[in-house]
Amino acid sequence: MDQFKIRGGRKLNGEVRISGAKNAALPAMAAALLTPEPVHLKNIPHVRDIITMAKLLAHMRCRVESPDIPPSAFVIQAETVSLAEAPYELVKTMRASVLTLGPLLARFGHARVSLPGGCAIGARPIDLHIQALEKLGATISLDHGYVEARAKRLRGARFRFPKITVTGTENILTAAVLAEGETILENAALEPEIVDLAELLVKMGAKIEGAGTPTIRVEGVPELHGAEHTIIPDRIEAGTFLVAGAMAGGELTLTHCAPQHLGSVIAKLRECGVDIRCNADDPSILRVRAPKRLVAADVITEEYPGFATDMQAQFMALATQAEGVSRICETIFENRMLHAVELMRMGANIKIEGNCAVVTGPTPLTGAPVTASDLRASAGLVLAALVANNTTTIDRVYHIDRGYERIEEKLCDLGASIERISPGRDA
Ligand code: UD1
Repeated sequence: MDQFKIRGGRKLNGEVRISGAKNAALPAMAAALLTPEPVHLKNIPHVRDIITMAKLLAHMRCRVESPDIPPSAFVIQAETVSLAEAPYELVKTMRASVLTLGPLLARFGHARVSLPGGCAIGARPIDLHIQALEKLGATISLDHGYVEARAKRLRGARFRFPKITVTGTENILTAAVLAEGETILENAALEPEIVDLAELLVKMGAKIEGAGTPTIRVEGVPELHGAEHTIIPDRIEAGTFLVAGAMAGGELTLTHCAPQHLGSVIAKLRECGVDIRCNADDPSILRVRAPKRLVAADVITEEYPGFATDMQAQFMALATQAEGVSRICETIFENRMLHAVELMRMGANIKIEGNCAVVTGPTPLTGAPVTASDLRASAGLVLAALVANNTTTIDRVYHIDRGYERIEEKLCDLGASIERISPGRDA
């Protein structure tokens, strides 16, 4: 398993290009299952989860092609799908494989998708995906760890999500577009990734209103056609680089990002004293300048447009360098504080109180061997290592490879010192 060896204490300066959003690309790729015609997707990030989704679609006998190496665009054509199945081996490495359930069921009338099971940050059930599909007329059974879903043709229905779920909303949206009649989804997720998916589906011929609001109305159509779509920029990668700039800058310029999706992160960083500026001539550019002194701020993670749970670990790393007490509370996942213990091993002053971490700063961090527990936790550890004295070794960086495109190269281009150590190559 690869490790990162990070020598801290270097200022970051320069320009970084933000990649396409993994969490928008994954449902878009699954949505290609809805039509026999080719779907062209651009601005796809080259990260492990995307490769897993491409493998999953190929396993179903879809044509998955990319003109470039590394791939940043895909043509996916699900002309025939001889195997409407997402096997455990792929689902266990990427929970978002479950996004194939809705499109498969809607187009082919059956789907067999492995239950994802728990993960490091919590139990993460898919009970609401299943409830909603049942409401649309699907018969669902659980068999040997697999969800087996069947429906001759799904029927539109009204479904109110008892709890907001991002992939749940995406899964049901991609089922409802081919259902008979009208579907009304209430208490739907508002994330920009939902809006991006709806835009792709509309280009494919779907009739959708209200994406990005709590109530989404879908008028089912008998079939969809091919389309071309550019994936939105990754707001979590952009947020991570904003925090990097705030902690270890210098001055960073983020290009190809979508500042309008970063409202709560930008507001919180400004509260900490960080100077973040938009560019009047080009709205896809953000500049971040590290302040002389960071000040503490409290954070509560919330669904969009609130502060994203996917930015919590990165903010905790920043809080270790901010003057005062920051109370960081996690409300979306029940076990998403594992990075706090690793930050403490680097010298951070953190107390865990239930689902909150109370961080007192600033504390000098010292390099230590630490272990990444999940995708965003690893980003938090990388940020901490950038400002730590000496060398930090981060184990299990495959987590970060799942969702960040060439993060060590991008940071090194800005002045960081990060070495990837692959076993057998340079142990
Ligand atoms: C998505 C994102 C992930 C992000 C999360 C929250 C993708 C591929 N992943 O994950 O990066 O951290 O949103 O913003 O887009 N829940 C249930 N039953 C369900 C579904 C969800 O109880 O059927 C619970 C979950 O356990 C969690 C909460 O609802 O506590 C929110 O989860 P959800 O929005 O579904 O997260 P994901 O879509 O898995």
